[in-house]
Amino acid sequence: MIYFDYAATCPLDDEAAIAYVKTATEYYGNSKSLHDVGSAANELLENCRKELAKLLHVEDNGIYFTSGGSESNYLAIMSLLSAKQKEGKHIITGLAEHSSVKGTFEKLESSGYEVTYLPFNQDGLIDLDNLRSHVKSDTVLISIQTVNPEIGSIQPIKEIGEICREEEILFHSDFVQGFGKVNLESPLEYLDSFSLSGHKIFGPKGIGAVYISPDIPWQPYYKNASHEKGLRPGTLNVPAIAAMTVAAQKCYTRLNQDAEHYRRLRKTFIKELQPISSKIILYDLPELLQLPSTLGMRIKGLEGQWVMLECNRVGYALSTGSACQSGMDTPSKTMKAMGVADKDAKEFIRISLGRDTSQEDVKGLAHALKNMVTM
Ligand SMILES: Cc1ncc(COP(=O)(O)O)c(C=O)c1O
Repeated sequence: MIYFDYAATCPLDDEAAIAYVKTATEYYGNSKSLHDVGSAANELLENCRKELAKLLHVEDNGIYFTSGGSESNYLAIMSLLSAKQKEGKHIITGLAEHSSVKGTFEKLESSGYEVTYLPFNQDGLIDLDNLRSHVKSDTVLISIQTVNPEIGSIQPIKEIGEICREEEILFHSDFVQGFGKVNLESPLEYLDSFSLSGHKIFGPKGIGAVYISPDIPWQPYYKNASHEKGLRPGTLNVPAIAAMTVAAQKCYTRLNQDAEHYRRLRKTFIKELQPISSKIILYDLPELLQLPSTLGMRIKGLEGQWVMLECNRVGYALSTGSACQSGMDTPSKTMKAMGVADKDAKEFIRISLGRDTSQEDVKGLAHALKNMVTM
């Protein structure tokens, strides 16, 4: 089986796996224990925090480890709302946010918040004028993903951040699909919080982190939470944190080289699909707006679910969109946010590339798709 679903999850990197085993066997203490075994684990933990902060160009006292991107999103949103800069109950977010963000806002709606869900423009981007037109005097929070998980569009984080600063609105971004993949040193400066996850960058599953600016005086969501300065309870998974940190160091070291690899693969794939270009719709943006490893497309008249199963039959693993939606037979959230009709949105498939994806692999997949069109 050739894997084209790296945006859903990645295999564990070999060096990250070694770090995991070494930490789990040699630094197994509870990082909160006061004896030397605990202190050794804690020292390693704090080194990881510092290293991640360095990679992200943020202060290490704003980094909190969590169980993954979903929990990070939840905790970030609840923490920011506990430290609102002004009175108000209005929130702005996007229509294509991950279920962990959407679910949090739906819950907040039932407790009296008003949430505006912004659509995308035809390129899969948040329209800044539209966003600005929805800002009200009682808007307290904006939450927009950095990179869309289905088509890889990179949102205008800096520009949204500027609006937030002008209007004294707190700004969270789900950075899960951008972490380790895009260099966002300067846009990240505009965020009050952002979330990341280990398993999208060849780290372990079930581990992640959230950055909350040390300037935000958040109140704990959980009562008496004993870890991570009261942000969350639960013994920290130091082995997974060490492995995620190793995976992240590797991603940032190879960022440009990997991006170039993905761009070449993408180019080949699109070129190979040329003979059926009239039958397909590709979501492909200019370089600065596009995560090169994620490619969304539709084959006119063919349901994505059918294409995915047919690809699986001939040895290719791809998806019909974000993993949290697969199996739900709902049209792609991103397509819906872009105004694509339900029937057409169901044609959506996502191809996501990894370090081991080869030119032969993408040519093979393109060949399989061409066969389906001419079947
Ligand atoms: C954009 C985005 N946010 C959040 C998540 C959730 O991350 P995790 O699986 O670590 O909870 C995902 C994973 O699918 C994602 O793609």
